[in-house]
Amino acid sequence: MTHSRRIILKAGATAAALTAAGMALTEGTGQGKTLPLTPCTPGATTPPVMEGPYFKPNTPERSDLLTPGMPGVLITVSGTVFTQNCTPVARALIEAWQCDSKGIYDNSGYTLRGHFYTDANGKFSFKSIIPRDYGTGADYRAPHIHIKVQRPTAQVLTTQLFFPDDTEAYGLNFAEMNRRDRIFERRNVMPLSPKVDNHYDAAFDLVTY
Ligand SMILES: [Fe+2]
Repeated sequence: MTHSRRIILKAGATAAALTAAGMALTEGTGQGKTLPLTPCTPGATTPPVMEGPYFKPNTPERSDLLTPGMPGVLITVSGTVFTQNCTPVARALIEAWQCDSKGIYDNSGYTLRGHFYTDANGKFSFKSIIPRDYGTGADYRAPHIHIKVQRPTAQVLTTQLFFPDDTEAYGLNFAEMNRRDRIFERRNVMPLSPKVDNHYDAAFDLVTY
């Protein structure tokens, strides 16, 4: 047997083992839940959520929404914009706006507001802080980031991104806040990496119209 023949056989055996493991995860008892999320479900957009009263047009083009000295828990949100056919969208427009760590929106200027574009592979990444909750009663809002996303020549999708129940920021109880918010959208909760040095990484793909 030649050297190259052995390598091919070994690679074949590995592939068979992987297939068996994949089938076990698919057909097994609950293990499938540990698989990574499917980034895009054909035919379904990211669930839209209302725009709310604080959107402002004509934001600066920037993917770093941080202002020097701004207090808050830092977050970098990264993902891919897809079509409903799960094709990455290059040059998709994303608009992001949010309140600060005290629950205040900047309605006179552009603090914590900006727009940016996906790259040639449909990927985006932006920097911000985790916003605080605000409002009372029926208008109570859990922490969220407002988003608009638009594929070139297509309709704008407006939504909001939320934080996991175990997020640690400002001594707040995110499970309780998410429960109280009447328009909270569990499907738009961004998975977070473990917090390191006051910073979270969030991963969330957007599926636009
Ligand atoms: Fe809001």
